[in-house]
Amino acid sequence: MCGIVAYIGKKEAYPIILKGLKRLEYRGYDSAGIALLNNGEINLYKRQGKVSNLEEFAADKNINGNSGIGHTRWATHGAPNDVNAHPHYSSDGSIALIHNGIIENYDSLRKELINHGYVFKSETDTEVLVHLIDDIRKNEKISIAEAVRHALQNVVGAYAIVVISKDNPNQLVAARKSSPLVVGISNEGDFYLASDATPIVEYTKRVVYLEDEEIAVVDLNEGLKIVNIGNQEITPYVQQLQLELEALEKGGYEHFMLKEIHEQPRSINDCFRGRLNADEAWVSLGGIKEYEQKMINAKRIVMVACGTSWHACLVGEYLLEDLARINVEVEYASEFRYRNPIIGENDIVIAVSQSGETADTLAALELAKSKGATILGICNVVGSSISRITDAGSYTHAGPEIGVASTKAFTAQVTVLTLMALSLAYKKGTISDSKFHSMLAELESIPEKVKLVLEKNDLIEKIANTYKDATNALYLGRGSSFPVALEGALKLKEISYIHAEGYPAAEMKHGPIALIDEEMPVFVIATKGTSYEKVVSNIQEVKARKGKIIAIVTEGDIAVKEMADHAIEIPETDEHLVPILATIPLQLLSYHIAVMRGCNVDQPRNLAKSVTVE
Ligand code: AGP
Repeated sequence: MCGIVAYIGKKEAYPIILKGLKRLEYRGYDSAGIALLNNGEINLYKRQGKVSNLEEFAADKNINGNSGIGHTRWATHGAPNDVNAHPHYSSDGSIALIHNGIIENYDSLRKELINHGYVFKSETDTEVLVHLIDDIRKNEKISIAEAVRHALQNVVGAYAIVVISKDNPNQLVAARKSSPLVVGISNEGDFYLASDATPIVEYTKRVVYLEDEEIAVVDLNEGLKIVNIGNQEITPYVQQLQLELEALEKGGYEHFMLKEIHEQPRSINDCFRGRLNADEAWVSLGGIKEYEQKMINAKRIVMVACGTSWHACLVGEYLLEDLARINVEVEYASEFRYRNPIIGENDIVIAVSQSGETADTLAALELAKSKGATILGICNVVGSSISRITDAGSYTHAGPEIGVASTKAFTAQVTVLTLMALSLAYKKGTISDSKFHSMLAELESIPEKVKLVLEKNDLIEKIANTYKDATNALYLGRGSSFPVALEGALKLKEISYIHAEGYPAAEMKHGPIALIDEEMPVFVIATKGTSYEKVVSNIQEVKARKGKIIAIVTEGDIAVKEMADHAIEIPETDEHLVPILATIPLQLLSYHIAVMRGCNVDQPRNLAKSVTVE
């Protein structure tokens, strides 16, 4: 996590960097800081807390300079305070540096640098980098770019860094390994650097995504030069951004999360584009087409992900197993990577990730690749690290998701997995023609049905008001609605700070039932389908203990409506597609509860959108 942004050119750097930091604030908001080069001096401005604190602090200061670096922090080493905020200075103030990632061998480097006479001001791992570069530059009498390269050869860990130096006012030096970094090149000869393209798109659409262990020098006289850590020159691959500026704004909604919830009819439709035609009876995921036979032949498919994306994988497991009869295992990426998993050339590993930058998911994929597996990706962010290291993949096309709580990315991931399952099932012959055709038609109608669910907003807000003061909540579902229950619980806890647990409904009686009393809201996905009667029994078990039932039911279902304290109807659909519809009311419920509790919905405490550290 942490967001980094930098600019060098003819314009005033401060407003560009400040705006960029606001765009990147989803990556962390423990502190924000900027360093600007002006009249041969590097001036630092840093503040604990959000970018707005920095902006307030800087308001009465005369901040100038045509080159600068900025950082928004998600604390790993050291408390979130002014001192630990980035940028960090070298002892003589001639170099300043911003960093996203973790320097794992920082302790030994720190001891070494202390022996060389360096005094550390912060508790961060990052400060070792700035002193190390300074030390190497002075001892070896080499350029700042060379010193960066040599320093990084001694570093274990993950980094995206940008370095500004007094001695080279016309250039910035940047590098990355395992943390993302994009360089924007404007027609006027200015350069922008950032953790993602959102701070850049307003100024230029020409970008270069740096690869691992590449060092970029942007120089106002000499342009962009990239070398790898072994000093081989790399020809920059300039790409055209597809991102539009409007997608990064709230568009009249109070929060990004609410906007993103309401965007789902469109984002699901975008996900279908060019991939689904019910009238002509075809479905096709172009990106993975050439791997479909391998998927059909594979002994198993392993899916790796974290958080909400992991929940999407669980839905995918149900879909792929039930429709295509392919054996699927879903793994937490963080566990998979450290478990010495049995993976070989015949395995297919699919990573699912909104950001495409999640460190654990990326590492799990790298491990699978090293063992010879075919690695595929389902990502939202175009050009992200996961999308670039995989053999093939499919984008979800949900558009930028800025709210830290994932909403439209989840339904888009489930949509892609549904398309994948249908395509494989049809090819493999595990689904009848009539079922295939009816499912395609039903899938095409899902965006309209999502709209109908969104129309329940007022009812959902009222229910939210009843339960806003709860301290605990239980979410229950069976089959593919179990991951929906997990996702509902995650949404509630991450933005409203209410403790919530998702459970397979039948598991409740093996423990969590002990928690149920008249204070406990129990959210149950009780739509019509295979387990309907079983879920109804589970509802009765909760009722018998005086728990409060909030049920997501199929339109027209009177029975559960009468049993429940509250019911939210969703349109009837094929059982396999219920997860997409049933998730929407749970997103809205969490959203309203969080707003009523006065929580920061888009930037919940302690979280970051893109978890680029272990
Ligand atoms: C979702 O609301 C969370 N903020 C989080 O669990 C997220 O899904 C997880 O960090 C994985 O992120 P990714 O999809 O970008 O890999």
